[in-house]
Amino acid sequence: MSLAPELLERFDLRDPDFIADPYPVYAELRAAAPIFWYEPTRQWFITRHSLVHSTLRDRRLGRAYLHRYTDQDLGRPEPDPRWAAFHDSERWSLLNLEPPDHTRLRGLVSKVFTPRSVAALRPAIESEAKARLSELTGRTTFDLLTDFAQPYSVAVIVAMLGVPRADTDHLLAWSHAIVKMYELTTTDDQRVAANEAAGAFIDYVRALIAAKRRAPDAGLVSQLIEVEEAGERLTEDEIVCTTIVLLNAGHEATVNTLGNGMRAFLKHPEEWRRVCAGKVAARTAVEEMVRWDSPLQLFERWVLDDGVEIAGQPLAVGDEVAMLFGAANRDPQQFDDPDRFDAGRGDATHVGFGGGIHFCVGAPLARLELEISLDELRRTMPHLTLVEEPTYHDAFVIRGLRALLVAP
Ligand code: HEM
Repeated sequence: MSLAPELLERFDLRDPDFIADPYPVYAELRAAAPIFWYEPTRQWFITRHSLVHSTLRDRRLGRAYLHRYTDQDLGRPEPDPRWAAFHDSERWSLLNLEPPDHTRLRGLVSKVFTPRSVAALRPAIESEAKARLSELTGRTTFDLLTDFAQPYSVAVIVAMLGVPRADTDHLLAWSHAIVKMYELTTTDDQRVAANEAAGAFIDYVRALIAAKRRAPDAGLVSQLIEVEEAGERLTEDEIVCTTIVLLNAGHEATVNTLGNGMRAFLKHPEEWRRVCAGKVAARTAVEEMVRWDSPLQLFERWVLDDGVEIAGQPLAVGDEVAMLFGAANRDPQQFDDPDRFDAGRGDATHVGFGGGIHFCVGAPLARLELEISLDELRRTMPHLTLVEEPTYHDAFVIRGLRALLVAP
């Protein structure tokens, strides 16, 4: 399906104005076409909730194709050797695997991420949130992202993995550099930085694994090593990539959800008052934070089988499909008055955590972290206000604020 050139022009993934507020353009795209071809990235974009929902569950598409085809088969360039360390760092990431490897690895990781085992972390997460916020008492202003959300969320994931807390500054720097690879507009300078970061990250995790072999603890890295030593179901490379993806995915999206979501509250003070007055439970409000201004705007799939058609559009093996989560989560066919930020909506049918076999394995942890931070914020800072208008990073896929300056 083709779109009016004027509309396509406004769907400009590099334009800071578009990134700051993509929702009006999404509304026009959704109304104009359920799926359209976008030449700048050579992808099919999907705009509507029902189609994003079904595409996520369609096993004829996958996050990877190398288990079925070579790059040559699909007429795609071989991986660039300049970015070899980056590719190594995610070769065995859950996000790059399809069954049967995905099933095997995901089975092991999800054992640790069941709602029950995550719920057992509640007291530790609560005391982390309290400690971070109490450090801010007495401040007249602070950045909710770097002074609270980031150190809080990183502390939770490093504790879960059993990574020394003293190393978090390195991890953060590597993680920020690596995630630039997932943008559609990455520059070569960013690729060089991401590749260097990935190489350093791999070396770090290998040393960590060696240390955990000598002195195991209760953390996830030790648990994965135990599985590896007990049989042949997991290799060291798989442990390295799993640790890296959990560390990266384990805070970037949560931090951005807190930033985007608290911005939403501060722009809609009546909704914040509902939460502070206990009229809307923090757990309920979290779903609306993820839906209304999703920290992850787009995810991709490859067409792996013949005969795939989406909304009547035939697709060929090797075609790439880009699902606009941000557009799906504002689809009026799915949500009443979708542009309204309604803390009490409590509708978890959003696609913010994905769906199908790659559904976010960390969702129970993310939900708990967000719920606890909202509860602690409403308890300690009910009069929170914005100090200056926040702006978004120039990144579309992983969409988040540069800073969120607030007064308690
Ligand atoms: C609010 C915070 C979060 C959001 C919005 C989020 C969102 C997502 C989404 C949309 C996917 C699916 C991607 C796709 O289908 O292609 C995903 C996958 C994943 N997420 Fe999250 N995530 C969050 C937090 C976390 C946390 C805290 C962790 C880890 C502790 C985590 C670990 C992962 C992993 C490992 C996958 C890959 C799962 C697989 O491929 O089987 N995420 N996440």
